[in-house]
Amino acid sequence: MAERIYIGVAWPYANGPLHLGHIAGAYLAADIFARYHRTKGNEVLMVSGSDQHGTPITIKAEQEGTTPAEIAARYHKQFLENWQTLGISFDLFTTTGTANHAAVVQDMFLTLLKKGYIYKDTVKQAYCPQCQRFLPDRYIEGTCPYCAFVGTRGDQCDQCGKPINTIELISPACRICGDKPEFRDTEHFFLKLSAFQDRLLAWVRKQTHWRPNVLNFTLRYLEDGLKDRAITRDITWGVPIPVSGFENKRIYVWFEAVLGYLSATKEWAKTIGDEERWRTFWQGNSKSYYFIGKDNIPFHTIIWPAMLMGYEGLNLPYDVPSNEFLTIEAKKLSTSRNWAVWVPDYLSRYDPDPLRYLLSVNMPESNDTDFSWQEFFRKNNDELVATYGNLVNRVLTFTFRNFNGCVPEPGELDSASREMIGKAEATIKTTDELLYGCHFKQAIKSAMLLAQEANRYLDGKAPWKTIKQDRQDSATSLYVAIVVLSALKTALYPFLPFSSQKLHEFLGFRGTPQQGGWKLNSPQPGQKMASPSPLFTKLDEELAIEESKRLGSL
Ligand code: MF3
Ligand code: ZN
Repeated sequence: MAERIYIGVAWPYANGPLHLGHIAGAYLAADIFARYHRTKGNEVLMVSGSDQHGTPITIKAEQEGTTPAEIAARYHKQFLENWQTLGISFDLFTTTGTANHAAVVQDMFLTLLKKGYIYKDTVKQAYCPQCQRFLPDRYIEGTCPYCAFVGTRGDQCDQCGKPINTIELISPACRICGDKPEFRDTEHFFLKLSAFQDRLLAWVRKQTHWRPNVLNFTLRYLEDGLKDRAITRDITWGVPIPVSGFENKRIYVWFEAVLGYLSATKEWAKTIGDEERWRTFWQGNSKSYYFIGKDNIPFHTIIWPAMLMGYEGLNLPYDVPSNEFLTIEAKKLSTSRNWAVWVPDYLSRYDPDPLRYLLSVNMPESNDTDFSWQEFFRKNNDELVATYGNLVNRVLTFTFRNFNGCVPEPGELDSASREMIGKAEATIKTTDELLYGCHFKQAIKSAMLLAQEANRYLDGKAPWKTIKQDRQDSATSLYVAIVVLSALKTALYPFLPFSSQKLHEFLGFRGTPQQGGWKLNSPQPGQKMASPSPLFTKLDEELAIEESKRLGSL
């Protein structure tokens, strides 16, 4: 029976280019998972979009002297290009700027208001007398009330990950002029998170399949006790509040961005001409996975589920396989200090698969991991080129040349050959189980192990030598190696979609590896192959020095 898998991926702020932290934190794992499930024949929907509201966008627009809309449009376009080139296979990547999104957000707002989960209150909000404006979220900075981190912004602490109410900040300062803000009365709407405390705790305690880091962070957070949170702001860029008298305020970016998961599904359903289809993934028997970075955990395991519980009738998250952080050359990634590897920059010089490979084998699944250029070049050369690429290349070029461009007819298989094919079958099964459970790193390692074993098998069989005395023996071992290659192009397809597609075609298959299904597709003896070329390119390791120098140089 086919399963239904909904994959929601964090909505990146459209205020700057994507960097490797984004890719390692959420997008790559989501794409691997989507490709795997599609290959299994499951019904998959993977959606996300640009988060175009909130103070990250308005601050950037003010810095550049342009409009938030212009900033959002610029980076949205760039994101779409990057997904294409990197092979991040969204079914829809939209934006929070659509009329459809605003309608979904306002419906949630009014429903929760009617049910008493949203209420109005007068609060003290930071106001800068110098700038003569309210200072929401990132317009204010101070010391974290939870962990004492200095330089915490008014929306969330970068150090301990906790969402902040600006009024809680210790020694707050206006980020525009540095002045000390005063606190003035203003009317806002609040989400009554406290009403969900018990229900959330009971629900989270049952999620024993969550990653320990996600489960523990969420439990600790809940056990501290939930405070109600303001979900409107004194700003004019964002989704309007559907209540009269609030024309000059907007809905808080986090309350509306998470609703993108639902609004994008509705938009997708319209684009396929089946408006009610969104229900398949939200009301039916479907599992919802949310791929997000560590800093977004509380929004997806507490606030979003609370909103869904209040609304009723929509599926709660099944899993939130959040990754930890990626450091860059052993230092914390920082966009403001330009200590980051930018995706458009990477893609201007290198292919997508080597990056996908490195970030898969080094995925920060259960602890922070590091990206270094030296390791990037080393892994490309020693593992992709020397182990996998070389295996493919020597088998395919030799076979193509000596067997008339066709898959050779095997003779009887000896025990080594039977064992080799058994390993190929076992790898398909192991990677299946690992990917099903979101263990991406172990899955790619298990596939690469098969490539190593195949190299050893071939070294033992030496078909390039036996071809002279015993053509049948040579044909048999090449045939076995080709079966292994076919297993590899499937097992590695979610990770390395571009090279798997090439290999699929070299082996003489039509269509895509996805259409082959998650099984060992043994090529038919006599099957016509395509003329092979190398899957990967060796890179000059000296370039690592040059690339490292680029880091941090503004
Ligand atoms: N834009 C937010 C960020 O980059 C993430 C939004 S995820 C969503 O941190 F859940 F709100 F969609
Ligand atoms: Zn903190």
